[in-house]
Amino acid sequence: MKEYKVAVIAGDGIGPEVVSEGLKALTRAADIDGGFKFSYTFFPWGCEYYLENGLMMPDNGLDILKEFDTIFFGAVGKPGVPDHISLWKLLLTIRKGFNQYINLRPVKLLAGAPCPLSGINRADIDMTVIRENSEGEYAGEGAWLFRGQSEETVIQHGVFSRKGCSRVIRYAFELAKRENKTLTSVSKANALNYSMVFWDEIFKEISLEYPEVKTASYLVDAASMFFVKDPKRFQVVVTSNLFGDILTDLGAAIAGGMGLAAGANINPEREYPSMFEPVHGSAPDIAGKGVANPLAAVWSASQMLDFLGYEKYGSLLIDAIEALLVSGKTLTPDLGGSATTEEVGDAVLEHLNVLAK
Ligand code: NAD
Ligand code: IPM
Ligand code: MN
Repeated sequence: MKEYKVAVIAGDGIGPEVVSEGLKALTRAADIDGGFKFSYTFFPWGCEYYLENGLMMPDNGLDILKEFDTIFFGAVGKPGVPDHISLWKLLLTIRKGFNQYINLRPVKLLAGAPCPLSGINRADIDMTVIRENSEGEYAGEGAWLFRGQSEETVIQHGVFSRKGCSRVIRYAFELAKRENKTLTSVSKANALNYSMVFWDEIFKEISLEYPEVKTASYLVDAASMFFVKDPKRFQVVVTSNLFGDILTDLGAAIAGGMGLAAGANINPEREYPSMFEPVHGSAPDIAGKGVANPLAAVWSASQMLDFLGYEKYGSLLIDAIEALLVSGKTLTPDLGGSATTEEVGDAVLEHLNVLAK
């Protein structure tokens, strides 16, 4: 039987709480099929580990992870540990080190999910945001000059390479072509007179190779406004690292909330493991209470199944989430219910069993 080795980094705050439920759904999908299985290896990396060892993960962390088929990630971040350390020394090291240059984030309003917008059709919120995930505003390049002095100055560079922009834009065109969808590029060339002018130029160049794909190009400020006022304009969206980060929290807000927003960090060449994680963070405000919504983690698990070639089960997990939302019986407080994280995870399994029959 085919066995997939999954490295699990549950992390901090609600990370471990939601990851357990995501893994239960993965295991159940494999059991239903009977032809493949998962083995999980848990790594205790995160802020607690940092407080004990001075490192977010061991120096050879990437060498250890490289042996796995995929990575399932919860969230990191804990009050008391600076966020730029906890994120740069773990999550961003993995995304960059494993060349996971595609960040696939579905923004889809499932039946039964709450939506704060009025006057729009549910089916109108159905997009895939493709966020550049390796460079751009997240290049981590810069300098801190004259620290503590009156001339104190910081420089934070954006790094946009032809290779980096082209590969994510091309990936987006391929997806739009395959799914017969429109493709919208989101940038900001009116103000960012090098990086985004370059991005727009490359988008235009590559569009010539895909005459069958209908395209649009928006400035990020206007795109944010249309996400709220007229989301049906967007089907496949491609954008830079920072804009994609911000737009996908906005996307979460219009499509059921942070508890339903999933993401996949993909290395398309499969040279390194890809990593699946909810969009949300460690949510210290609700951590340890057992009330975090695990559905984003379950949705990320569904993305892992898709990636491994089990699209049938990827869809089954989404159908189970949707059935759960529609029944409205077992929901966490963010969705207006009073169920615990674990009760929602168990209810997902029940729906999976029913749907698989
Ligand atoms: P957050 O996503 O953790 O929380 C924002 C709000 O959404 C909070 O009110 C939280 O309670 C709510 N929320 C998030 N996920 C939820 C869920 N599954 N169910 C119910 N409610 C949920 O963002 P933040 O508060 O800005 O960041 C907290 C910490 O997480 C920071 O340290 C930040 O750096 C880190 N962070 C990590 C990741 C990651 O590891 N991928 C992502 C984002 C933020
Ligand atoms: C996300 C998160 C991360 C990001 C942070 C925690 C570095 O917000 O995955 O959306 O900005 O990429
Ligand atoms: Mn984010």
